[in-house]
Amino acid sequence: MAKRVGIIGCGTIGSQLALAVDSGQVKNATLVSLFDVVKGSAQSLSSKLKSAPKPFDDFGRFMSQDCDVVVEAASQEAARKFAKPVLDAGRDLLVMSVGALADRELLASLQSSKGRVYIPTGAIAGIDAIRAVKHLLDSVTLTTTKAPKALAGAPFFETSSIRLDEIKKSTVIYEGPAADAVKKFPANVNVAAVLSLAGIGFDRTKVRIVADPAYTTNQHEITATGSFGKFQFTVNNVPSPGNPKTSYLAVLSAIECLRSVCESGMRIGS
Ligand SMILES: NC(=O)c1ccc[n+]([C@@H]2O[C@H](COP(=O)([O-])OP(=O)(O)OC[C@H]3O[C@@H](n4cnc5c(N)ncnc54)[C@H](O)[C@@H]3O)[C@@H](O)[C@H]2O)c1
Repeated sequence: MAKRVGIIGCGTIGSQLALAVDSGQVKNATLVSLFDVVKGSAQSLSSKLKSAPKPFDDFGRFMSQDCDVVVEAASQEAARKFAKPVLDAGRDLLVMSVGALADRELLASLQSSKGRVYIPTGAIAGIDAIRAVKHLLDSVTLTTTKAPKALAGAPFFETSSIRLDEIKKSTVIYEGPAADAVKKFPANVNVAAVLSLAGIGFDRTKVRIVADPAYTTNQHEITATGSFGKFQFTVNNVPSPGNPKTSYLAVLSAIECLRSVCESGMRIGS
């Protein structure tokens, strides 16, 4: 039977996921409901889709619809608020705002819930390899380089004297553990959270953020060392057209993850 899919967040990722299900790119799935906190957003997306999923701006009413898999593609706040109720209702959950899982209590409560939690690789590569050597890792470092405008609005700048509009050359603006980075750059380094969960955790995974006006891509470079040897993975992602903070690869990875959740058959690389 086709999996019934509901989506929280009708922005860049949510819209593309909805289109992927609606167009049949994700098979064995039916889009049944959409929820966005901004009034009219879910309605506007629904009106563009053949399947006309039910639109909501209220979480309780969204949850009253029967559904097998819920996708969170909204914000860390949404993941914190809605992940547990979704799982407690016996639904599976695909989380995009992975930085929220740096909260140990939330992570533990999700791990003990009855539903399954799916975390797409997102805007990076190599998570399969990091998982495989998890117990042999000594160090994991993520260096993220973006154009200054792709970092604008991050809570980090509320307490920093760094002015993004004054950056004229490649500048390291932040170095710290992933646990801190995901709070200061919630919309930029979800990849640090995915990497932490796959490898040596939020406290030991190091993050460096570079603002570089010459960059038109979002670059993520992962270096991992241990008794297995050394990995270096670099991706240079074009930003998605709707949101310069979100790499296009993150959208594609979410679609691929939902495909593997809904479709039966062979699994490659995981
Ligand atoms: N895992 C990854 O690799 C990765 C990569 C890129 C983005 N992300 C994260 O995925 C999420 C979605 O990204 P996007 O580019 O689609 O963002 P977006 O800003 O384009 O869209 C987010 C949508 O969610 C809605 N929303 C926000 N908070 C909400 C709430 N509490 N309840 C209901 N709706 C809410 C907004 O109104 C908006 O329509 C973000 O948290 C982003 O940081 C993860």
